[in-house]
Amino acid sequence: MKSFWSLGNTRDKQKLAKGKKPIAILAPMSGVTDFPFREILCEIGKPDVIFTEFVSTEMIYRRGAVSAPDKKGGVTPPLQLQFSKKQRPIVVQFFGSRPEQFEYCAKLAVKLGFDGIDINMGCPDRKVQKQGAGSELIKNPKLAAEIIRAVKKGCGGKLPVSVKTRLGYRKKDLEWIRFLLEQDLDALTIHGRTASQGYGGEADWEMIGEAVKLRNKMKLKTLIIGNGDVKDLCRGAIHCAQYGTDGFMIGRQILHNPFVFCRDERPFVSTEERIKVALKHIKLFEKFYDSKKDFSLMKKYLKAYLSGTELKKDLMEAKTIKEARKILEKKALNSKY
Ligand SMILES: Cc1cc2nc3c(=O)[nH]c(=O)nc-3n(C[C@H](O)[C@H](O)[C@H](O)COP(=O)(O)O)c2cc1C
Repeated sequence: MKSFWSLGNTRDKQKLAKGKKPIAILAPMSGVTDFPFREILCEIGKPDVIFTEFVSTEMIYRRGAVSAPDKKGGVTPPLQLQFSKKQRPIVVQFFGSRPEQFEYCAKLAVKLGFDGIDINMGCPDRKVQKQGAGSELIKNPKLAAEIIRAVKKGCGGKLPVSVKTRLGYRKKDLEWIRFLLEQDLDALTIHGRTASQGYGGEADWEMIGEAVKLRNKMKLKTLIIGNGDVKDLCRGAIHCAQYGTDGFMIGRQILHNPFVFCRDERPFVSTEERIKVALKHIKLFEKFYDSKKDFSLMKKYLKAYLSGTELKKDLMEAKTIKEARKILEKKALNSKY
């Protein structure tokens, strides 16, 4: 199957010689990589591949996936499953523990036009684990395999299927990685920590490299994407060259530097440009959520865009979107004259 994953297969030496770059991917982050933020990122520095926030299969299955018919007689997917053309290639990530719900969601993902389906087998959040989902699946390989089969059945070969996981539950465990590789996935993302580590210590890229060696030994085509502590495109590419991964994901750094995926070689982003981006995000946020989301959710983005400027402090004190917009517009106006 021809897929977006062919973007950066670094195992192919000929392509590498022609300058094929490793795939730079935006990590799925709940409460962060939502529609408005993805839309902004496509303008200020677009990743090669974008992942959605994780979406609950239980929630989608129970609500029947779609809401009432819209004005044109079509059906509107829930906000978590909406994306624009600009955001493609986009992979939807699901979490859950019931194979039949995964199958249902996979069928829906095909219908909605996503470019890939990823299964979360790494989230260490207690609420997620309690449902038998996320990293809890590392302890239940039989169910993990059933879920992968269900997703493959649901998408009927029309979309690539991948898993995002950690190096193990309590200890780093290549047997878990071997098990996943045996499931014939299109791609496997490995966050170089165990589930019980949370975010403690450093991501173990050496061990991710061992997973690549194992994949090569098994003569599999599954792409391996490394994840953990990548701060910029250059260091991501260095990791890929050093450890043989086909790509890398960037997560938390996006909130320190939202311009991190920008490939233009410019020394810095001006305050004016940062203000423009922040105002655009506010507009998108209001439109997309129709004022149903609290302004506190918007603050982390403003903090990220305006980091290193004197405006940041004032913005953090704003109580409403209106106040924040006023501060930004005033500064934009002042800097014009
Ligand atoms: C706020 C937050 C939300 C996250 N949500 C998800 C998620 O929905 N799905 C997922 O697979 N990982 C999620 N992660 C984990 C990240 O995708 C990534 O694996 C992790 O942050 C390590 O990469 P980094 O060092 O580049 O941040 C989340 C992490 C953070 C900090």
